[in-house]
Amino acid sequence: MVNKNATRIRIFDDLNTAKYNSSILLLIPPSMATFPPLQNDLILRAARGEQVERPPMWVMRQAGRYLPEYHKVRAGHDFFEMCRTPEIASTITLQPIERYEDLDAAIIFSDILVIPQAMGMVVEMVEKKGPHFPEPLDTPEDVAKLKRLGEGCDVKKELGYVFEALTLTRQKLAGRVPLLGFIGAPWTLMAYMIEGGGSKTFTKAKSWLFKYPEDSQKLLQDITDVAVEFLAQQVVAGAQMVQVFDSWAGELSPVEFAEFSLSYLRQISKRVPERLAELGQERVPMTVFAKGAWYALEALCDSGYNVVGLDWTHDPAEARKIANGRVTLQGNMDPNVLYGGKAAIDKAVKRIVEGFGGGKQGYIVNLGHGVTPGVNPEDLGFFLRKNHEYGSA
Ligand code: CP3
Repeated sequence: MVNKNATRIRIFDDLNTAKYNSSILLLIPPSMATFPPLQNDLILRAARGEQVERPPMWVMRQAGRYLPEYHKVRAGHDFFEMCRTPEIASTITLQPIERYEDLDAAIIFSDILVIPQAMGMVVEMVEKKGPHFPEPLDTPEDVAKLKRLGEGCDVKKELGYVFEALTLTRQKLAGRVPLLGFIGAPWTLMAYMIEGGGSKTFTKAKSWLFKYPEDSQKLLQDITDVAVEFLAQQVVAGAQMVQVFDSWAGELSPVEFAEFSLSYLRQISKRVPERLAELGQERVPMTVFAKGAWYALEALCDSGYNVVGLDWTHDPAEARKIANGRVTLQGNMDPNVLYGGKAAIDKAVKRIVEGFGGGKQGYIVNLGHGVTPGVNPEDLGFFLRKNHEYGSA
């Protein structure tokens, strides 16, 4: 039997230590900024496993193309140019917070593919197609050409724009809700770097695991080293909680997932707090979202993260049984329910909140994957309101 609280990770927060002086904040570097006190820390308390008044909520891809206000800013800008412009990135991050009063967290507007860029790869965002790498990794010899941490890849320099965006966004949020940072998981990034974009079968990336297992491990390790530093520096810059997106975990069998993904996810959850301690920074709650890896839930509950994100293939009550109080669970409505109208949304939300035991402990409301571009913003608002209602009951 697992003791409910024994395996929980202790988290400190900056609620009491925050200091704020708006007149100097814009002039000082991210690492020296101080911030206003937090007025809504629901998600941080839920991540620690505390009993809360109602489950906190946020939505993956909440800052994005389903919002007309996003398209207004997007017009005339390249996607990665927007990521690299802190004023624009912070404006987009705040859009869903300003629209929906029910949201309990903001997630920084950026992308998982900024890590491959920092390692020297060119990544473009092609309209209506998604990410494209003109020169993907073809053979293990190409790995040697990548910039590694401390060997050509200076995270603070290459990704300084993300840190500036985080710091600026924390200021603009003025303590309304916590700000989340994120990274792509090593396996998901490796898959993009080899495929050169999205893929239906991931044949190239997966065949690397079988043809070149050692080179694959080396690549995954190089990505992990950058990822750890990047995530720790996001916290220094103002991220109050962080999520690791392993969007393509479900492409792997349990054996390959354990060897080529989970081991690096574990490294990240272990090394980020260590790095934060070195930097004199308190740890923050960490979430892992390994989409499609339903078979790995047991292992993920023991992988050093405070929160485990679930896609819609999990039954909430079953997942809760497996987690057994070890972690907080996040998710998991199929985003496509949002196309089904109010009655369908109402029914699904009620069922899911009940499945998560009413939601007042060990639960964070989210979708099972990102909100898609065709969703009516009013329907997402209805989803949030219903969660508020059922979660407060
Ligand atoms: O969640 C948020 O609102 C924060 C911002 C965010 C974006 N991407 C903005 C974005 C986050 C957290 C991501 C993560 C991300 N990016 C993931 C992991 C999450 C997931 O969905 O599995 C992945 C796999 C990527 C890579 C990526 N970026 C893809 C595949 C695409 C194309 C998406 C598509 O549906 O066509 C992007 C582009 C992207 N990232 C957009 C946004 C708002 C749309 C870009 C545009 O305006 O053209």
